[in-house]
Amino acid sequence: MTRPFVFINSAMSADGKISTIDRKQVKISGREDLARVDRLRSDSDAVMVGVGTVLADDPGLGVKSDQLRRARQERGLSESPLRIVADSRARTPPKARVLGPGCILAVARSAPAERLKLLSRHSEIICCGEDRVDLKELFSLLHERGIERIMVEGGASLNWSLVSQGLVDEIYVYMGAMLIGGERAPTLLDGEGCRKDFPTLRLAAVERLDEGVLLKWTLAGEAP
Ligand SMILES: NC(=O)c1ccc[n+]([C@@H]2O[C@H](COP(=O)([O-])OP(=O)(O)OC[C@H]3O[C@@H](n4cnc5c(N)ncnc54)[C@H](OP(=O)(O)O)[C@@H]3O)[C@@H](O)[C@H]2O)c1
Repeated sequence: MTRPFVFINSAMSADGKISTIDRKQVKISGREDLARVDRLRSDSDAVMVGVGTVLADDPGLGVKSDQLRRARQERGLSESPLRIVADSRARTPPKARVLGPGCILAVARSAPAERLKLLSRHSEIICCGEDRVDLKELFSLLHERGIERIMVEGGASLNWSLVSQGLVDEIYVYMGAMLIGGERAPTLLDGEGCRKDFPTLRLAAVERLDEGVLLKWTLAGEAP
């Protein structure tokens, strides 16, 4: 399959949680890591999240640094990359910060027509998959549009679907100096989990940032 290069970026506590049992956002990264995330965003063609993250955190997903936004414009690009939400049933609230020019809602063909009508005023909509967004089909469509590099910023369920379908090339994990706990708190990958045939990783880089550590992993999957 021809698809963009896809990488996940996530911040987790030292006990592997990406938020709390209430699925409330936690500030795990410090200043250095947030600046790194902003650079990764500005070097991507699109940033993608699942609708669970939109409902929990209401992220804007734009590039924050004025300097990086200007540099993109000087390269003939929009200030920030495209923003993509995997949202099979079009549950994104019309006031969500992610919506607006440059946003793509990826929905299933069975998404309620009235939701699509409402949200199409705030976003481009792409239908792929019958009852759930078909990520392979979506990536193939995005690749045809010239999108070559996608940064996935969670959450746990979308990360799992992507990894379990062999659609991820790299994973950046920032492990912050804190503990969250809770057996129901989301981790890097939720979903069904593997019982065997575990995807294996190669450690590409380790870096101390703020009071935590950044790990960069590559996956030995099929090349895009
Ligand atoms: N620390 C971090 O770096 C970080 C980053 C992001 C999020 N988070 C945290 O992660 C939590 C959200 O994670 P989450 O697992 O609840 O939500 P999520 O992964 O953001 O979104 C999951 C939703 O995406 C939709 N979706 C559409 N197509 C999908 C597909 N093919 N595979 C999987 N999902 C698909 C599904 O809803 P439909 O079936 O309705 O489409 C699914 O419920 C929040 O607590 C947030 O704070 C942490």
